[in-house]
Amino acid sequence: MKIALLGLGQVGRSFLRILAENSDYYEQRVRRKIEIVVAADFHHVLHAEYGMDPQRLLYYKEKGDIWGTGYPEIDRESLFDKEFDVLVDLMPATSDGIRARDLYLTSFGKSRDVVTACKSGLANFWPEIMSAASSSNRRIRYEATVAGGVPFFSFIQECLRSSVVTRIVGQVNSAANFVLLSIAKGETFDHAIEEAGKLGILEANYHFDTLGNDSAWKTVITANSIFGSALKPHNIRFEGVEGLDPEVPGLKYTRLLAEIAVQDGKIVASSTLRKLKQSDPLASLKGKGLGYTVYMNGRAPLTVLEFNDGPTETATAVINDLLLL
Ligand SMILES: NC(=O)c1ccc[n+]([C@@H]2O[C@H](COP(=O)([O-])OP(=O)(O)OC[C@H]3O[C@@H](n4cnc5c(N)ncnc54)[C@H](OP(=O)(O)O)[C@@H]3O)[C@@H](O)[C@H]2O)c1
Repeated sequence: MKIALLGLGQVGRSFLRILAENSDYYEQRVRRKIEIVVAADFHHVLHAEYGMDPQRLLYYKEKGDIWGTGYPEIDRESLFDKEFDVLVDLMPATSDGIRARDLYLTSFGKSRDVVTACKSGLANFWPEIMSAASSSNRRIRYEATVAGGVPFFSFIQECLRSSVVTRIVGQVNSAANFVLLSIAKGETFDHAIEEAGKLGILEANYHFDTLGNDSAWKTVITANSIFGSALKPHNIRFEGVEGLDPEVPGLKYTRLLAEIAVQDGKIVASSTLRKLKQSDPLASLKGKGLGYTVYMNGRAPLTVLEFNDGPTETATAVINDLLLL
């Protein structure tokens, strides 16, 4: 499988590290090798017809410039002239999602599949992107867009197929909850942002996390993917964690939570601050944790928790999508 890897930031570098370590194992499992034939960051687009060495790319990216790899540079516009099967989008979100939408529609039109960790395109243009994929007979996988490396879409859609899902409540953004819990511990907003940055869990524009856009995008993607709605971010109520008062009682049990439910046959979605009961399993998640509870008709709710999520876990979800393709 030949891939074009766009974005070599926190997740992209984790992707390279994991691929360098496990490439043979993956090849044994799916009998195909994942070969990076195009790799791009903000400054360069490199191409190697017979594949790049992930370790070498990682070494030069961490040194500061992938140009040092010696792989030939190509124009951004000639990306689709190159032979590859899957476009992997690990670039930052944009507020309107237009760049991602255009890239995916072009990919489908040029007979390429897409794997993405980027949310804003899917959240803003879900119906357009899904119908373009279907009419071109192409596939798009997006496991890493919600709850990082916690199995989410594949788990709910594959393992819970026989159950009628009525409601999902989740802590699906670690950065905002990390900031919230840091403030609850008496730290300043700026210090919390600095620490979240060191963990690699912040969006390139961190206000997308702290104003609540990122969690809202994830809520919309979940609603559309699992409940079949056609929501856009402006259709849902959402809030963020900027300007929180550390003296608010019970802040340490408050979380920014995505909730999607079926009420009287309608899909209702929101991403808001909610105080949890201490006994709620989601209250056991700290700043770097992600997780969710799925409510279903006629059976007990199911909770999935991961206590330490970040770029590495997200990159494993991206690779999993590639292996599933
Ligand atoms: N970090 C996480 O834990 C996490 C979890 C779930 C989902 N995600 C999503 O995964 C994506 C990547 O996240 P990240 O944390 O890795 O972001 P990041 O550290 O900001 O990295 C973004 C990468 O994209 C590159 N880039 C920017 N504009 C580009 C362009 N026009 N063409 C090609 N490359 C471009 C940047 O290049 P330079 O290196 O040259 O600046 C950088 O390598 C985001 O959409 C994010 O929402 C991240």
